[in-house]
Amino acid sequence: MRVFADYCQDLVAQAREQLRSDSDAVPAAPLARLERYLLSIAAAFAAESPHRGCFLTRGTADLAGQDEEVARTARRAFDDLASAFAAVIREAQDAGEVADHSGYGHTAVLAEAVGRGAGKAAAQVDLVAVDTITDEQWSLLDTADAVIFGTPTYMGGASAGFHAFAEASSGRYLRGTWADKIAAGFTNSASKSGDKLNTLNFLAAFAAQHHMIWVGLGLAPGWNALQASESDLNRLGFWVGAGAQTPQDGGVETVHEADIATAEHLGARVAAQAAALAAGRAALATA
Ligand SMILES: Cc1cc2nc3c(=O)[nH]c(=O)nc-3n(C[C@H](O)[C@H](O)[C@H](O)COP(=O)(O)O)c2cc1C
Repeated sequence: MRVFADYCQDLVAQAREQLRSDSDAVPAAPLARLERYLLSIAAAFAAESPHRGCFLTRGTADLAGQDEEVARTARRAFDDLASAFAAVIREAQDAGEVADHSGYGHTAVLAEAVGRGAGKAAAQVDLVAVDTITDEQWSLLDTADAVIFGTPTYMGGASAGFHAFAEASSGRYLRGTWADKIAAGFTNSASKSGDKLNTLNFLAAFAAQHHMIWVGLGLAPGWNALQASESDLNRLGFWVGAGAQTPQDGGVETVHEADIATAEHLGARVAAQAAALAAGRAALATA
């Protein structure tokens, strides 16, 4: 048992040491440190002869089911490793190497396109990452004429980060803070369908619960006829909102240009509708 406990302690200490920035003369970037650590572990196990593999993994698989002390020690080691990984990933997010909320950055590219479209239509735009939302950003949402919700599609619906945000908005739902504000939505997933419609419908229902006014995409479906093209606007044929598809192993540069243009269209459309509504309300107020 002592050998197993010492092995776990060393493994965690080694991970912390390699993932920390202050152990380098010139600190490496967070993602580079993570890569370096994972490669060093792989190289160490590959170099062993005979291959013994990871004692923590083997000990857990062989003994944790029968011995509570092994299970406890292994659980502590896995928790410590997870928090060391979480810390370096958080550093990578803070350094802009990993986009918040948008796991691979695909949905973030679309969010920027939506913002660009709204900006071109003369709207003042603020991008808010819902999983790191601050009090000031909640206030921005409270005072905006329109809010365009976006989330990657994970497991056939909105991401956990978006759901946490939606639940955190329940006080505003009770007070009607966002009532009669314009809303719209977009999502991205790896598969052409990927059950994205579920996500868009959820965003529309979420907006309806807040008594918001939903604006659909307002585009005919593209890429659905013999002469049609993959580069058509709304190439995936959604009406409820903008749906995009990006290969799950592709970088941010692989977000499809037609999906980016469709997202820009959504931003411009919402900005135009919000301006029309605000002008109409102002006219009514003085009539
Ligand atoms: C936990 C998880 C669940 C996913 N579920 C789906 C899914 O239901 N349908 C789909 O087409 N793609 C799914 N994907 C793939 C992502 O939607 C896809 O990689 C997307 O481009 C990620 O966008 P992001 O970079 O903004 O996170 C899933 C990915 C993850 C990590």
